[in-house]
Amino acid sequence: MATLRSDQWYAGDDRNTYIHRAWMRRGYPGDAFGGRPQIAIANTASDFTPCNMHLNEVAQSVKNGVYEAGGIPLELPVVSLGETQVRPTAMLWRNMAAMAIEEMLRANPIDGVVLLGGCDKTIPSLLMAAASFDLPAVVIPGGPMLTGTFKGRPLGCGTDVYKLAEEVRAGTVSREEFTASESAMIRSKGHCNTMGTASTMGLLAEALGMVLPGTAGTPAPDSRLLEASHAAGRLAVEMVEQDRRPSTILSKGSFHNAIVALAAIGGSSNAVVHLLAIAGRLGVDLSLEDFDTIGSRVPLLVDLLPAGRFLMDDLYRAGGLLAVLREVTDLLDPTALTVSGRPLVEHLADARIWDREVIRPRGEPILDEGGIAVLHGNLAPDGAVIKPAAASPHLLKHHGRAVVFESIEDFHARIDDPDLEIDADSVMVLRGCGPKGYPGMPEVANMPMPTKLLEAGVRDMVRICDGRMSGTAYGTVVLHVAPEAAAGGPLALVQNGDWIELDVQARSLTLDVPEEELAARSPSAASAAAYAAPTRGWERLYVDHVMQANTGADLDFLVGATGSRVSRESH
Ligand code: FES
Repeated sequence: MATLRSDQWYAGDDRNTYIHRAWMRRGYPGDAFGGRPQIAIANTASDFTPCNMHLNEVAQSVKNGVYEAGGIPLELPVVSLGETQVRPTAMLWRNMAAMAIEEMLRANPIDGVVLLGGCDKTIPSLLMAAASFDLPAVVIPGGPMLTGTFKGRPLGCGTDVYKLAEEVRAGTVSREEFTASESAMIRSKGHCNTMGTASTMGLLAEALGMVLPGTAGTPAPDSRLLEASHAAGRLAVEMVEQDRRPSTILSKGSFHNAIVALAAIGGSSNAVVHLLAIAGRLGVDLSLEDFDTIGSRVPLLVDLLPAGRFLMDDLYRAGGLLAVLREVTDLLDPTALTVSGRPLVEHLADARIWDREVIRPRGEPILDEGGIAVLHGNLAPDGAVIKPAAASPHLLKHHGRAVVFESIEDFHARIDDPDLEIDADSVMVLRGCGPKGYPGMPEVANMPMPTKLLEAGVRDMVRICDGRMSGTAYGTVVLHVAPEAAAGGPLALVQNGDWIELDVQARSLTLDVPEEELAARSPSAASAAAYAAPTRGWERLYVDHVMQANTGADLDFLVGATGSRVSRESH
């Protein structure tokens, strides 16, 4: 084994090494500090992140594995983001969490790290931090909850809340029934059970090679999660001994495999900004276009909500991610490695589909093309994305007049105004929701339908926004428009009544206004009024440095890796 990083703190018999060791001993044997791998367990357990509450139990299994393999396990509570709780949006804090985790990993005597995440932003922030720190790291996804049922029907987290809320507004479900479903929605510990962002990022962390193969997607209450956690603890020690770091695992091929997986599982559009941000930390040349060129050839094989019928414990029962990837082995990069030291494809041989309704065989896909489509045009010069699998087929080519909302508050104030001129063919445009504009790029793009159209039976319309959409949401929604309105993007120039053309097949998004007229327009006064630039704190730092969605919405000064070196002693 190469010299341990932690020996910079512990090896020797001088005053400083004495101080580092003595304050840590507290019952540990004399040989614990100095010569033994120090494995941090970066733990996002928090009572404010209900999806991750169970990670303390997971951490205990990791500790057992680390200690058994000769390492010293040390828990490091890190910034945790509860998607349903944090305002104004958890995405505003993703980069802050990543920066804080990276700095605390670097500042402490750590040789390797086990990353415990679950809820949407936690695995992305952990991976961004680990990529920049670049010492051996393995992710344990906390896993989805079990499926709750209401009146005999399974409930999909998020997706069924949106559906039921729309039915209440349409008058087809009573408010009493809506409220009664609340206690059935979250059946057990774990994160959302739909193919939302948490499920997607847990599975993609495995496709990237950063999870013990075959373990992502294990339901949170399943004892096999603890077994996997024990094994991951042992593995972390081995990875330190082998110097198996993120930069030696995460290649362009790893991201290629993650994009193939994203399409095959019908994963969340949020994965686009997260994968771009992780790649940016490693200097991997990944572009927005790669999601289309690599992903568009990939069939959709997994029939999960929000686009399909089943839920995450069904996917695990049906064979899990490896069974899905086995069907598309020929599309994967055979050289991309995993934390095991072996290529991902070598872990697919024994995978099997146990339920062909949940995971379709390659020859019977749900859709021939399951990937994210990347759109360009004068309304999105730097790109926008749409998830065709979650959209209505009849709206994938559409020409309609814009109904513009300056902010989400403006939307809520006017959407049910009986005088609002809107019909099923209108295109709803919501701006001021990008990284700088909100700030933080919230999940508001899937605007609810106007009540008068819901009552008339309309369930989907074309919607365009510079923000994001929850991975559990659905609809014909164009997202991540770049540049955003607040950064001077042409979205700021759209006026009510303008014609907009969406053509997903042609990958185009066009504002049908002559160039000269567009050049003469300036952003509306209402748009400027809706944007209040923050004056201090994290929001100020964020707005001054955040990049646009097409490059991952990381902070410009966090791109790249600093590594693990700390040049100066603390005393
Ligand atoms: Fe935590 Fe959905 S709210 S995963």
